[in-house]
Amino acid sequence: MKVDLIIHNCAQVATMASGGKPKTGKDMNDAGIIKDAAIAVKDGKIVAIDKTSEIMANHEGGLLVDAEGGIVTPGFVDPHTHPVFVHTREAEFAMRLAGATYVEISKAGGGISSTIESTKNADEELLFNLAKKRIKKMIALGTTTLEAKSGYGLDTASELKQLRVIRALDEDLPIDIVPTFMGAHEYPVEYKNDHEAYIEILTQDMIPKVAKQGIARYCDIFTEAHVFSIDESRRVLQCAREHGMELKMHADEIEPIGGAELAAELKCTSADHLGAASEAGLLAMRDAGVTAVLLPATLFSLRSKSYAKGRFMIDSGLIVAIATDYNPGSCNCDSMPMVMTLACLQMGFTPVEALAAATINAAHSIGMAESKGSLEAGKDADLLIWDMPSLDFIPYHFGSSHICKVFAKGRLVHQA
Ligand code: NIG
Ligand code: FE
Repeated sequence: MKVDLIIHNCAQVATMASGGKPKTGKDMNDAGIIKDAAIAVKDGKIVAIDKTSEIMANHEGGLLVDAEGGIVTPGFVDPHTHPVFVHTREAEFAMRLAGATYVEISKAGGGISSTIESTKNADEELLFNLAKKRIKKMIALGTTTLEAKSGYGLDTASELKQLRVIRALDEDLPIDIVPTFMGAHEYPVEYKNDHEAYIEILTQDMIPKVAKQGIARYCDIFTEAHVFSIDESRRVLQCAREHGMELKMHADEIEPIGGAELAAELKCTSADHLGAASEAGLLAMRDAGVTAVLLPATLFSLRSKSYAKGRFMIDSGLIVAIATDYNPGSCNCDSMPMVMTLACLQMGFTPVEALAAATINAAHSIGMAESKGSLEAGKDADLLIWDMPSLDFIPYHFGSSHICKVFAKGRLVHQA
């Protein structure tokens, strides 16, 4: 068979194949390894993965890439990011070092509100260029699929503008970007004491307009004691569902207010953060099939002493994914390998569980598993060639990159 690309001389290919389902429980530890392997690619898709001798005997043509005895994994799927904003907030990092908490900074007018001030009226081209630069760094760190949220506008026009920027990034960059509407990221300053009026805008104006333009797949909300309450969240999310969007939540990040329980009740696609979620809420999520997207780099950056109960979640059979939460405030981390390290050290994942959470399960959590998250015939050739002796090496050696080449849909998009 004539193909476009053959990657050969791979000591191992960690396929993360899982039969079309997310990986749960003990299956998370199965990387689906094929040794001495090669991968054949045509039209951006994997056509075969097998022993090098088999692939070479049955495929020809195109580009021949020597993996030089390295390990190949799927590209990372980062299922929770906020990359569209103007200024970074390193001054808040310094304030947290001096003892202030994220919520204190937010209540004093910093936090999300300060990003909104500079982002709301920024022109589309500036937002696009800034986000593009950030996402290119993510690609160099192995991310080949991304979920990106709006939420730094909080009025209809600027939320739509951020979603247009996300759409333009998806069209311009070689990776796939899944858009999420997050107009319920915070209450705008002028509505802090009139939640009802802002919920009215969300449900009567923003959600219908976003839905009509078909510009967001998911609707997300910051359900937390100092932001959207459980009842407020339920109303916003139900409205989004009525308008055809799928649901995500920032749930129980800091305080256990019942976000996990609400995610289960509404059968959201995912509930993210969950640093303080109750065990009952987590088990309800499992029973409702809601994926837990854990963001350990955020809690690390917020100097939290405790992390989400990732070990408990895996052992209880929840679908667990991990993400960076890349944003200018709580977590300016763009590295999925670093998040894998934190998942292992702070939540007790094994390296292979962390890889499953960062690839196949992450793909399921943003509805992309048909084409992303594992290396299987028919899926996109999104893959990483690593210079390392074993998969354990990814979280073990943190702080620098061991990725030699990044391919997205069969195209080389980064080379060390
Ligand atoms: O996931 N929690 C809400 N949103 C972000 C923080 C965004 C910001 O601080 O700008 C998060 O942590
Ligand atoms: Fe977030």
